[in-house]
Amino acid sequence: MGITTSPTKGTSESKDLVMSDADFERLRKIIYDRSGIWFAESKKYILENRLGRRLRELDIEDYDQYATFMTIGPYREDEFQKMFNAITINETSFFRNAPQLEFYEKQILAPLIKARESTKSLRIWSAACSTGEEPYTLAIIARRSLALRVKEWNVDILGTDISERVIKTAESGRYTNYSMRSTEEADVQKYFTTKDAFYDVRPEVREMVKFEKLNLKDSLAAQKHGKFDVIFCRNVMIYFDQKMRKECIQMFHRMLNDDGVLFIGHSEVINDAQLFTARKEPEAFAYERV
Ligand SMILES: C[S@@+](CC[C@H](N)C(=O)[O-])C[C@H]1O[C@@H](n2cnc3c(N)ncnc32)[C@H](O)[C@@H]1O
Repeated sequence: MGITTSPTKGTSESKDLVMSDADFERLRKIIYDRSGIWFAESKKYILENRLGRRLRELDIEDYDQYATFMTIGPYREDEFQKMFNAITINETSFFRNAPQLEFYEKQILAPLIKARESTKSLRIWSAACSTGEEPYTLAIIARRSLALRVKEWNVDILGTDISERVIKTAESGRYTNYSMRSTEEADVQKYFTTKDAFYDVRPEVREMVKFEKLNLKDSLAAQKHGKFDVIFCRNVMIYFDQKMRKECIQMFHRMLNDDGVLFIGHSEVINDAQLFTARKEPEAFAYERV
């Protein structure tokens, strides 16, 4: 990408790149300001490890140069994307946290389907969807719940993530065994085709889901998508600080219909009684809009 850092090709390969405390401070602020992702001191080694690879790829000699480039460099917008591709943790699977999804299907989706009988329309957002397993899972659950009526309904599912790389995988709808580790065999048969070592999401499921690169920090871009009946934002707010979490929760409140529900990850919690009330069921991790 043409960064002119007077590199000597190959030298940085062999050198151990060390991130000083000052470099770490600069870089974590740059990352935080852009994405809300906050690297605590104890996570410095992750940043060092993941950005180290970027530095080697770019033939940049040290983190100080990289931080300067990310502050004033001409190609830094491109590099931000590559940086997010490198530093985000994208762990996910189909049917992740089955008890929560069962709660969703029976206690939230079933009554919502009754409530939307007149419009036959549902809008679901999987915010921070990684490689797409979560929104496709939600499409499968919607198909299962609507059964034969699915053709009469308009179920729009949006999957978004900050990382371009994971959105590309999501759009391909193609997965390996690893993504299928929590999927029942009957669902594999019904909703996927298998070829070689791959599992392809069937077209009728794929066509229910649209993907877009979206940074949760950019609430204006998010709000262009209008209102949703259900928002899943699981296992990403753990990477944010308190302020960013609060901004996200306020945004989700604005973007949910009055009877909408927000689902979060099992290690996350929302303490904002003015905006959301937690469902009491232990497996739910679900919040109703106040
Ligand atoms: C651990 S994955 C969670 C995937 C899925 N929601 C699940 O629970 O299985 C976290 C995802 O959050 C994304 N992410 C991190 N910061 C983000 C931000 N500011 N805006 C949007 N997505 C973000 C990462 O790229 C990553 O794919």
